[in-house]
Amino acid sequence: MLTVPDCVSSLGPKRGWLLLLAIVERVRTRGPVVHPIGVGLDAQDRFVELPAADAELVLDPARPTGWSTSDEALLPDSTVSLLDLFVPLCVGTRAPDMVVAHLAQTLDGRVATNSGSSQFISGREDLTHTHRLRALFDGVLVGARTVEHDDPRLTTRLAPGPNPTRIIVDPTGRLPASHRVFQDGDAPTLVVRGRGQATFQAGSHVEVLECDVTGGWIAAPTLLEALAGRGLRRVFIEGGGVTVSGFLDAGVLDRLHLTVAPVLMGSGRPSLTLPEVATIDEARRLSCRHFSLGPDILFDCELKR
Ligand SMILES: NC(=O)c1ccc[n+]([C@@H]2O[C@H](COP(=O)([O-])OP(=O)(O)OC[C@H]3O[C@@H](n4cnc5c(N)ncnc54)[C@H](OP(=O)(O)O)[C@@H]3O)[C@@H](O)[C@H]2O)c1
Repeated sequence: MLTVPDCVSSLGPKRGWLLLLAIVERVRTRGPVVHPIGVGLDAQDRFVELPAADAELVLDPARPTGWSTSDEALLPDSTVSLLDLFVPLCVGTRAPDMVVAHLAQTLDGRVATNSGSSQFISGREDLTHTHRLRALFDGVLVGARTVEHDDPRLTTRLAPGPNPTRIIVDPTGRLPASHRVFQDGDAPTLVVRGRGQATFQAGSHVEVLECDVTGGWIAAPTLLEALAGRGLRRVFIEGGGVTVSGFLDAGVLDRLHLTVAPVLMGSGRPSLTLPEVATIDEARRLSCRHFSLGPDILFDCELKR
């Protein structure tokens, strides 16, 4: 028996995802979508722009979801959620330089145990979400402690799409070259270090990017500027808590994706840590949308840069 989505629309979630990848490529090569345009995929799944009336989707940066269609009722719910979640990362003036961070945290705001164990706090759906974010960005950036504890690969194994450049922030050059990102050659890899560190014997896919370090820290705008100089303008910050907090505190994030899993840890590495506030009035109250990701809830917070 055919499922309802198969009967009524050709823009199922798989083609919807291919369309999103094509929209990002269009933004990279031809600039941001700042006015409504009709888009779709042709019979060979190639990206096409066409009049709104004939289009599968109209990209419209003025709408909170960034898109519309002549008959939304014909789209499967899964496609609508996919577009609602990801189109805002692909349209508007900020799209070519967008910086987005994601963390998966427990109900009590932890991203790992004190010993560094974090796999996996959130469920399969959130893991897929993370891989999709990787595919939509030029670079995926993590802090040194994440590489130390997780030895991640930072590739798009759970979502069709290109592997982003892996960016590892290791200011003192303390990470050994034996970590997978420095050895496996699956994606170009940049290790960001302070100036004048010892030589690094990693694979030929690894480059060192030297930045100024002040008080042990590389200012987030300096880091983003250096990455943009390497053509890495759309940057996804994948963790951990210290790294994401630094970018959030510097005011350089366009969006924060916080996935909250129904897990209590009661101890562990904190999610976000920001300068202390004395009263509730001083706390930041964010404009957020919510999405169900299996057992978890994703808070998609729009931030002003
Ligand atoms: N749940 C999740 O979503 C998630 C995601 C990723 C990781 N994790 C877990 O989180 C834990 C690690 O998180 P964490 O918060 O402890 O550490 P982290 O953010 O992974 O790494 C922090 C370290 O990265 C370097 N760093 C990052 N940004 C920098 C900057 N702008 N300037 C200079 N140095 C910078 C510094 O290295 P130095 O210490 O060398 O100065 C800093 O101490 C791991 O256990 C991992 O498993 C969880």
